[in-house]
Amino acid sequence: MQTILYHIGRIAREAGAIVKRHFDHLNQSEIHKKGTIDLVTDADRETEAFIHEKLQKQFPDIAFLGEETGGENGKGAQVFVVDPIDGTTSFVHGHPFHSVSIAYRENGKSMAGAVYLPYFDQLYWAGKGAGAWKDGKRIHVSKTNELINALGATGFGCVRSNIKPDNVPAIADLLYKLQGVRRCGSAAIDLCYVAEGRYDTYWEFHIKPWDWAAGKIIVEEAGGIVTGFDGKEPDDSLGRILSSNGLLHNTMLNEIAKHI
Ligand code: IPD
Repeated sequence: MQTILYHIGRIAREAGAIVKRHFDHLNQSEIHKKGTIDLVTDADRETEAFIHEKLQKQFPDIAFLGEETGGENGKGAQVFVVDPIDGTTSFVHGHPFHSVSIAYRENGKSMAGAVYLPYFDQLYWAGKGAGAWKDGKRIHVSKTNELINALGATGFGCVRSNIKPDNVPAIADLLYKLQGVRRCGSAAIDLCYVAEGRYDTYWEFHIKPWDWAAGKIIVEEAGGIVTGFDGKEPDDSLGRILSSNGLLHNTMLNEIAKHI
């Protein structure tokens, strides 16, 4: 596990250098539409190809699943699950909250994860039993135990995918119950912020395994919880994710249950 952790952190940083090189220098011909409002850039593709090649060279027996190229089923015995740029929309618009996310999974369970924020030059990582870290320092979830004192974060992949029920009624309700809600456009960063105690909870109605697989182990190793809306292990095909410091988990499960 130590070897995997070392290499995913190193590769996430190196991949981040590619992302940084493209940031704020994209021209229109490098931006493409995967759907009506779902974007991919040449930078996403170049970064994923780089990560894939580096991981394959180091770990030829471990399968690969990437946002842009697909690959193996994320529930295989050993799989790297990769989002080369989580927060592509932010990235395209010159917004700093985007990240490189690399997870290592065994039989669908996140065992190690690295999330690198190129703009901020920050690396979050965690491995099963090895704790959660940011740039060499241990991180821990918050101790907030009341919704009204909690800062929440969320996203709207569900709206983009036209999935119903979507997150709009839930956020409308929770805006009155939480101290505040942030929407920064990268689920991987949102999870790292829960791990670090900046956010107390994060939820989304429809995200893909590459958006959350690395962040999940980082939250868990920081003392928090990541489940589906039923309180059980998240389901890759549903993409319903609730994360919290643990103390708020049941309350948030009950709040979200009103909107599904
Ligand atoms: C997106 C981000 C965003 C979330 C979307 C994701 P992408 O990932 O994580 O925060 O709201 O659901 O799809 O598409 O930019 O890699």
